[in-house]
Amino acid sequence: MRYARYQLMAFTMISIVIQPSVLAAEEMVLEKVMKGHEKNMQLIAGGIAREDYEQVVKASLAVIDPPHPSSTLGEKLKLMGFLGSNIGRFKDLDRDTKERAAVLAKTARGKNGEATIAAFQRLQMSCLACHAEFRKPFQDYFNH
Ligand code: HEC
Repeated sequence: MRYARYQLMAFTMISIVIQPSVLAAEEMVLEKVMKGHEKNMQLIAGGIAREDYEQVVKASLAVIDPPHPSSTLGEKLKLMGFLGSNIGRFKDLDRDTKERAAVLAKTARGKNGEATIAAFQRLQMSCLACHAEFRKPFQDYFNH
């Protein structure tokens, strides 16, 4: 028990030491998640156009729970450094997107085209809300 804890501590310390250099070369998890969002939004739009509501439901659920590797401790620390006291706001905006994606999935199950399009629009607005506040600062901070 105690040994395991020391091991974890040592691992954590090593992560802190080695991550920054690794991060410089690697794409951040946040960017992978965003690319996934982009793909799923295209699938949703395509599903609406073909009235393939199953596809809309599937892609909406993928927006809520995107498959991605968990962030390294180094990335978490970098993100925390960037967000600072805005972390609560960032999380709220992230939650909005997930809630609206859940509403979209539910609406699409009803196979009502107009309602589905309206729910899709509300989801897009939530993406825009976070980008309007955080995209530019993110790029400035991480030197994109
Ligand atoms: C909680 C904040 C937040 C939410 C919500 C959010 N994004 Fe983003 N997104 C960001 C940030 C920050 C960036 C800038 C990342 C960068 O430039 O590397 C970004 C960048 C992107 C990019 C550009 C990625 C690239 O490789 O240049 C796409 C595409 C994107 N988001 C799509 C979406 C979509 C679609 C949604 C909604 C389903 C969404 N995002 C919701 C924060 C958010």
